[in-house]
Amino acid sequence: MTGPTDQADLSQQTIDAHVAAATAAFAAAQTTAELKQARLAHAGDRSALALAYRAIGGLAPEARKEVGQLLGKARAAVADALAAREAEVGEAELAARLVAERIDVTLPVELAPVGAAHPITALIELMSDVFTSMGWEVAEGPEAEGEWLNFDALNIGPDHPARGTSDTLFVEPIADHIVLRTHTSPVQARTMLDRELPIYIVCPGKVYRADEFDATHVPVFHQIEGLCIDKGISLANLKGTLDHLATSMFGEGVETRMRPHYFPFTEPSAEVDLKCFVCHGASVGNPDAPCRTCKSQGWIEWGGCGVVNPRVLIACGIDADVYSGFAFGMGIERTLMFRNNAADMRDMVEGDVRFSRSLKGMAR
Ligand code: DAH
Repeated sequence: MTGPTDQADLSQQTIDAHVAAATAAFAAAQTTAELKQARLAHAGDRSALALAYRAIGGLAPEARKEVGQLLGKARAAVADALAAREAEVGEAELAARLVAERIDVTLPVELAPVGAAHPITALIELMSDVFTSMGWEVAEGPEAEGEWLNFDALNIGPDHPARGTSDTLFVEPIADHIVLRTHTSPVQARTMLDRELPIYIVCPGKVYRADEFDATHVPVFHQIEGLCIDKGISLANLKGTLDHLATSMFGEGVETRMRPHYFPFTEPSAEVDLKCFVCHGASVGNPDAPCRTCKSQGWIEWGGCGVVNPRVLIACGIDADVYSGFAFGMGIERTLMFRNNAADMRDMVEGDVRFSRSLKGMAR
């Protein structure tokens, strides 16, 4: 006989030997890579069993069925052996990897140093939150501001001493009339010109003054400004709002007072004082126990406030017969000094992370 059957021995014995060889090769394979080689050799297209299978066609038809069944069983046995060994090798490899990659979670690690929000930033957020939780909005304005908005719109006339170059930093060329804003109050004017009434806004931000740099002064500092314009607003609303802010900042029981003052943009105007938290007024008229915090005055100045001057409303296009409002402004640095006992303003600008860390969480 000639034909493919010549090349393939299809006896049961030989087929069993193929199966035995395949099973042995699988058992010998220790890794996925070795098992792959064994699979190609014993279960691949060119394996002895595959060739034998292809040779069936060359058999006499009556012999095909029996040999076909034999080979079918043989291939199934090889496939089962392969699958079983694959599972074993896979498991063993995983176990070995878990051992090799084991880490000791109790070892000390080098901690990446965690920074902290600057206390000024944290306090700005905290103060803004007091207002946004009452439905007020936060407004912003540019730090390089038009001279008109910084002064004239706020009823600060051309002859006002604050407009002198000794206090105000002008941006060159002077003829452009741009200043570094000396307070956050121009945002009031911007808001009144831009927004719909009623207005309830706070504006935190940087301000600039040609000041000395010492423990209690920095030429660049921060203020928060508040403005409320609505129908029927009076000084009583202002007092209530300031008391709420003071309690939120310094805790229940803090005392505030409004002391008559002058600001061109408010009428009447007042300064807001806080009862001295150190001596609680005990140093007043008591030379034996002087207080450095309030300079034995009993009160510490916190900020300015007042009923918005109708001239400002008119300059910003608001009907002063229908609407009225109040405004206030205070220094964030001052608030931080009182609230967190940060005695030296220079610490606030030096950017030493230890300062921020020392107040981390305290501003919250
Ligand atoms: N702009 C004032 C200042 O920088 C602070 C101030 C006072 C703001 C009274 C106000 C106010 O809104 O009503 O000194």
